[in-house]
Amino acid sequence: MTKTVARRANAAPTDPREHARAIAEAVDYAWHSRYGGSRIEVPMSVVAALALVAREAEDPDQLAALGETMERLGHEGFGLLVQRLWCEFAMLRPDLNPRTKHLWSWTDEEPDETVLHAVQAVGQAAIRKGVLARFGPDGWGETDLLGMLLQTMKSHGGRKGIGQFLTPESVTLLLGRMVAPDEGARILEPCAGTGTMLLGAAQAMRENGLDPTRCEWWANDIDPLASALCAVNLHLWGLGWRVVVGCGDGLLDQWMHEALEHRQMAIDEVQRAWRMARQIAAVRYVLDLPTPEGALERHMRKARPKPPPPPPPAPPPSSTFDAEAAYRQGRLF
Ligand SMILES: C[S@@+](CC[C@H](N)C(=O)[O-])C[C@H]1O[C@@H](n2cnc3c(N)ncnc32)[C@H](O)[C@@H]1O
Repeated sequence: MTKTVARRANAAPTDPREHARAIAEAVDYAWHSRYGGSRIEVPMSVVAALALVAREAEDPDQLAALGETMERLGHEGFGLLVQRLWCEFAMLRPDLNPRTKHLWSWTDEEPDETVLHAVQAVGQAAIRKGVLARFGPDGWGETDLLGMLLQTMKSHGGRKGIGQFLTPESVTLLLGRMVAPDEGARILEPCAGTGTMLLGAAQAMRENGLDPTRCEWWANDIDPLASALCAVNLHLWGLGWRVVVGCGDGLLDQWMHEALEHRQMAIDEVQRAWRMARQIAAVRYVLDLPTPEGALERHMRKARPKPPPPPPPAPPPSSTFDAEAAYRQGRLF
């Protein structure tokens, strides 16, 4: 592990919930002190994108190096990076696109300079607070960082006294143990918030040696932001592909029909896009067209820390005269 990661990991709270709180407060402060505005889905999408990168990383050292590069990106480069990360997630999980769209649609709108500066400040704050190191390869699965962030930002650090309040993980785990779902179960949460109840159920299953990806997970919330964060969470927590996330009135069952329909439409759309991308790639290959460096790649290359220079070559011996050997042979006196 590099020195930077080790230093950050030491400085971060050991309790995952406390760590999530520290990240959420830093992000809230960074967003509001840079005049980020009222669209709190923007900072949340930045943190969610970073969490998704951390989740997919296999090598902590590689992740730390990527974190260093990301921290050095300018506001334009950081904006492009967040946009790319969401594009890749949209291809990876098209089934969640109808919900996650609420988080990434701002990246399609050519955000202005002020928003981009605030986005960069949020990303840097989250990275400095150790979002990558804590929530890297094995860190997920025990806490709801996005839920903590939603609560913090909706009440702006509790100062406005309004907000959305979610059940803490210690309680959801207890409830999960009481329900103790079996593999093959259909688990339904019509007012899911960011999905913490489902996390508790999945944790309880894992404790019993069961695989939560063998269940069907249905989640819904009337708030599009909570529902979008829930969709990301279900991926971060590794609940698999049998997942349906809706956004509607949980007192009616219409949300279930709509969620299934929108899910299928999104999958079909991405399949069409893949077919077209494959055709374009085949034509480029046949015509042997070079691939120009993209704007994001240019920003990343410039931000990447330079490798240390190679050590200077050993100086040539100042003299070939071996005084010690000459002394031993008694030639000096
Ligand atoms: C107190 S939070 C609890 C969330 C989650 N069940 C938990 O325990 O952490 C209540 C959630 O219900 C959602 N909600 C309220 N009325 C709803 C409705 N009619 N349909 C769906 N969701 C609703 C709110 O947006 C909020 O996210």
